Amino acid sequence: MERSLVLVKPDAMERGLAGVIVGRLQGAGLKLIGLKMLHMDKKLAEKHYAIHKSKAFFKDLVDYITSTPIVAAVFEGEDAIARIRKLMGATDPSKADAGTIRKDFGLDIQHNATHASDSPENGKIEIANFFKKNELYG
Ligand code: CMP
Repeated sequence: MERSLVLVKPDAMERGLAGVIVGRLQGAGLKLIGLKMLHMDKKLAEKHYAIHKSKAFFKDLVDYITSTPIVAAVFEGEDAIARIRKLMGATDPSKADAGTIRKDFGLDIQHNATHASDSPENGKIEIANFFKKNELYG
């Protein structure tokens, strides 16, 4: 069993897509085991995206992800990481396959509707940044 953190990002929140995105993942058979709405502060954003610290887009990314409240979710399932990444599609919505969440709802490479963990190890780290153990119902 794997777990992935999923974020519904500000561009999707502003368009009322939280339920649709969570629903797509549930509809694909992934088990929702944690869910909350929060407004990320700079400290949490810099921690969550620490791997991108050296990138030119880092400051914009932190400003963007902290611009509105977001929805954070944890999904569990066999091969959950790969399955969720497939359902979401490529980071850049213009390169995402038809029928994926980012193709359908993403606007551009930054405003790409969702975030998901890229490995089981990072999933554990990312989930711990957002959820206490007793907030998960796996
Ligand atoms: P995410 O899956 O949340 O992981 C890192 C985020 O950085 C990514 O989605 C995009 O929102 C953003 N990102 C990645 N590459 C670029 C880029 N070239 N320019 C701007 N933002 C980017």
